[in-house]
Amino acid sequence: MTLTFFGHSAFMLNHSDVSVLVDPFISDNPLAQGVVTEGELNPDFILLTHAHGDHWGDTVSIAARSGAQVVSNFEIATYLTEKHGYENVLGMNTGGSASFEWGRITVTDARHSSSFPDGTYGGNPVGFIIEIGGKTVYAMGDTCPFPEMAWYAEDFDIDVALMPIGDCFTMGPESSIRAANMTKAGIFIPIHHSTFPPIQVDMPAWEKLMMRAGHATSVLAPGGSIEF
Ligand code: NI
Ligand code: MN
Repeated sequence: MTLTFFGHSAFMLNHSDVSVLVDPFISDNPLAQGVVTEGELNPDFILLTHAHGDHWGDTVSIAARSGAQVVSNFEIATYLTEKHGYENVLGMNTGGSASFEWGRITVTDARHSSSFPDGTYGGNPVGFIIEIGGKTVYAMGDTCPFPEMAWYAEDFDIDVALMPIGDCFTMGPESSIRAANMTKAGIFIPIHHSTFPPIQVDMPAWEKLMMRAGHATSVLAPGGSIEF
C-alpha cells in the first residue's frame, strides 16, 4: 500500500490496481504546485469529506476525465449529478458503510461545516475509515476532536490516521493530541496545515508533543509518500 500526500488534505492510496483519491484540491493548492497537476491524476475512486473549495477542488475535471466513482455525503453526490451531469456517484451518510471489491468505506462524523464554493448547501462534513489491502486508514476530514473518536479505535485497528492540525478551521497542534489519544492509530500523518498563513504550524513542536504522548508520526512533504 502506498499513500501519497499532495499537500493540504489531498492524498491518494494505491493498492494493487486500485487508486483512491481523497479531497483533490490540486490546481489552487499552493502546496501542490510543482508536485502534481490535476491532469496527472486518474483515480478509480474520489472520496470527498465535505464541499469546501479546499477539499472539493478539482473533483469535476478529475472525475470527468477518469470516470472515477465519487463517494461523499448524499448532498455532494446529488450536486455532482444535478449540476454537473456526473452519474458515477455514491451518496452515503454518517455511520454508513459500503463494500467494494477491494475493501470497505465507513463514513464517520466530523465536526465542521460544508458548503460549496457557490454557496450551495453541502450536507454534513464527514471523515472516512477506509479498509483496503488488509490495512485501515482513517481520514478524519476537517474536524475538532470529539469523544466518539474513541469508538472508532474500539471498532477498528487503525493503521494510519490523517489528522488535521492547522488550527483556526480545525483542531490545532495541541488539541490534536486528544484526537490521537482516542484514535490510537499506528502512525499519524498531519494534514490541513501550513497551506495558508492562518494554519501555519510549528511542526517540530507538534512532533515533540506527539512523541511525548506516545504517538508515532510521519510528516509528509507535498509529493511525499509512505508504504505500509
Ligand atoms: Ni472545510
Ligand atoms: Mn478545509
